[in-house]
Amino acid sequence: MKVGILGLGTVGGGVINVLQKNSASIERRTGVQIELVIAGVRDVTKKRICDTSNIKLTEDPFEVVNHPDIDVVLELIGGFGLAKELVEAAINNGKHIITANKALIGNHGNELMKLANKKQVRFLFEASVAGGIPIIKALGQGLSANNIESVAGIINGTGNFILTDMKEKGRDFDDVLKEAQALGYAEEDPTFDIEGIDAAHKLSILAAIAFGTEIQFSKVYTQGISKITTEDILHATELGYTIKHLGIAKRVEDGIELRVHPTLVSNSQLIAQVDGVMNAVLVKSDALGTSLYYGAGAGDEATASAVIADLNDIINNQTSNHILGWKSQEKINVVDNDAIVSEFFLRLLVSDIKGVLSKVTGIFNDHNVSIEALIQKQVDENKNAHIAITTDRVSTKTVMNIKKAIEASDFNQAEVQLIHIELLD
Ligand code: NAP
Ligand code: HSE
Repeated sequence: MKVGILGLGTVGGGVINVLQKNSASIERRTGVQIELVIAGVRDVTKKRICDTSNIKLTEDPFEVVNHPDIDVVLELIGGFGLAKELVEAAINNGKHIITANKALIGNHGNELMKLANKKQVRFLFEASVAGGIPIIKALGQGLSANNIESVAGIINGTGNFILTDMKEKGRDFDDVLKEAQALGYAEEDPTFDIEGIDAAHKLSILAAIAFGTEIQFSKVYTQGISKITTEDILHATELGYTIKHLGIAKRVEDGIELRVHPTLVSNSQLIAQVDGVMNAVLVKSDALGTSLYYGAGAGDEATASAVIADLNDIINNQTSNHILGWKSQEKINVVDNDAIVSEFFLRLLVSDIKGVLSKVTGIFNDHNVSIEALIQKQVDENKNAHIAITTDRVSTKTVMNIKKAIEASDFNQAEVQLIHIELLD
């Protein structure tokens, strides 16, 4: 099996290292030798994390996709401009594609899958979601007997790394982000990680496979973690919750919910214990019931593990594109965010004046929403009090109206923080 690689950074370098160090066990499973023929990079003189002495390096990536001897192209460059052109060219040349690039699939997956099916080549992307966790193979193959009810989890390693360190070490957001970048976890543009775009790409892929819909990335309600503060984390902890950045795809009566947002999860739930760069995806399905998939969500060798598993599938002819269950021409209605019903956490900064608490609770009462828990602390020299409230189940539209009403009142001192609470099992 002759392989061409586009990109020898964190993931590409990891692929070469794992193929080299585990060559005997990989060959035991594939039954053939994998030969890395050529790799496209931006700068052939750059120092790499892997040994490239037996691979031809080129600064012309089209040399890889047009190479006559190559059977499979690993697209590990990232982005969705040049990467799309290269993948299209490779498919048109009859080459199988393996990619870790969720941005490419989120934005152009439907058309690329159609092209791959037309040209009868494989288009595989296990590494694009949750790093090394084989969640796509779990949904497409392991759970193929099931109707999937929901898929929910931590699907961005950088975001989880940041939230974990903010909680455990009280570290500064920017400082932890720099560390995640140095470790190779973050996207080239780290706002993709922080603002939930990367997780939304991944969620749209999971939903396509779980529910048999086209990729609907633009329909994912997306909220990042950049506005989560130490105050939120402290109050959530006091109420028995941990803040996690979740991607949630759920089948409901009117279609599917697709949402990515910070979420309070009860400390008693397993997902609350998933820390650092680790990811976890909880799947509810009708035959198996609840199953949980856990592992490293980013990093060189962890991601390489998923890339090489796809290579094994191609060699063993195991996965036709069809088995993934992705219907690239079928749309399922995505429910409007306003209609989504959830419990919520609100954090307020209010003037610590007599009767303020009853004014706050009065606003909830006016909207017919009951309060589950409330804590109040007087924290600053300006005599402002922090109040944290959790609600009963309420529509997003109603809780947004409550937020607006509080922000319009004379006792309010800051924007009200509003975070979903999710009951995962
Ligand atoms: P990276 O470390 O930045 O590596 C990108 C590689 O692509 C580099 O080797 C770079 O060459 C090469 N490249 C960039 N532009 C090029 C161009 N115009 N022509 C030729 N080569 C070019 O990125 P990465 O972290 O490995 O990520 C690669 C892909 O995997 C992305 O789609 C990412 O979202 C995805 N992914 C990453 C992880 C992770 O943990 N990092 C996990 C899962 C999925 P030079 O080295 O010469 O600059
Ligand atoms: N930037 C991504 C993350 C890489 O942190 O999860 C893995 O897809």
